[in-house]
Amino acid sequence: MRIIGIETSHDDTSIAIIEDHKVLAMHTFSQIDIHKQFGGTVPEIASREHANNINIVWDLVKKDVDLNTIDYVAYTKEPGLIGSLQIGYLFAQALALSLNKPLIPINHIEGHFFSNVFSKPITYPAMALIVSGGHSQLMYATDPLNIKVIGETLDDAVGEVYDKVARKMGLGFPGGPIIDKLSQQYQGPLIEFSIPKTHHDLDFSFSGLKTQVVNYINNYQNRNEEVPTAQIAASFQKTILKYLEEKISLALNKFKTKTLCLAGGVSANKEIRELVLKMHENAIVPPMAYTTDNGAMIAVACLERLKAQNGKK
Ligand code: KG4
Ligand code: ZN
Repeated sequence: MRIIGIETSHDDTSIAIIEDHKVLAMHTFSQIDIHKQFGGTVPEIASREHANNINIVWDLVKKDVDLNTIDYVAYTKEPGLIGSLQIGYLFAQALALSLNKPLIPINHIEGHFFSNVFSKPITYPAMALIVSGGHSQLMYATDPLNIKVIGETLDDAVGEVYDKVARKMGLGFPGGPIIDKLSQQYQGPLIEFSIPKTHHDLDFSFSGLKTQVVNYINNYQNRNEEVPTAQIAASFQKTILKYLEEKISLALNKFKTKTLCLAGGVSANKEIRELVLKMHENAIVPPMAYTTDNGAMIAVACLERLKAQNGKK
């Protein structure tokens, strides 16, 4: 089965064509260099960039594949930036009409979850930790059509906190990869930041940790002293790891789980990948190429759902 996947929910315009679990073509235009100068994504600029880029991306993708062989067109319906989503939707709808093929809406976070099948098949029930710049969730899937959110952040997402801490220390955007790199290079003593608490034990809260780290940096900046960036980066990352480990353990104790998955932009983090891989005998992390937003994960989410639907008939 051949499926086109279209992703425009945030700052990547990405289109892929897959055949089963094989990616036949994928092209992505990232807007990071444009949003960098503002320290974060500007929604209005994001929509305009998608509108400018989506045809160019499609021209690159369609070169490689005979369009008469396409079976479905899948696109990211939600969640995301409204204007950006709308461009993907209109484009996908026009494409589905012109190819005379069904148009399938996909949830962006479920797309991240299904990116794991590019590494290996998911056996159910499956647990997934989704960590990105916009979302932090624990999901539990009894099958590809029944996915429940069992815990989520009450405030900031993990990637968002990485980005804010990095911005406070003037390290650049996006902050995740920069903090990750600094953290891995650092060998010295760590600062003790406290682990956040939430009323519902599978929910997350990151804003308290963010405030602690920002206040710690303020103390140095107010005294005009050099900020120990590497030490703060490493201590912050260790706290995040400890917190995620605590939440995954709790979830695994509560729910019978055959596969533990990781997904979302933050899943590019080497230490978080290693943590997840050691926490379950059948743990999967997505290939690095499919950790950030991409069209292939939207196409493969459509495939997994269709296979499950056909299996039920
Ligand atoms: O899923 P994603 O590509 O975009 C959306 O949020 O929609 O995630 C981007 C986030 C950013 O916050 C970025 O800082 C974070 O993923 N990130 C990382 C790493 N690489 C990217 N965070 C921690 N460690 C990394 N290596
Ligand atoms: Zn995403």
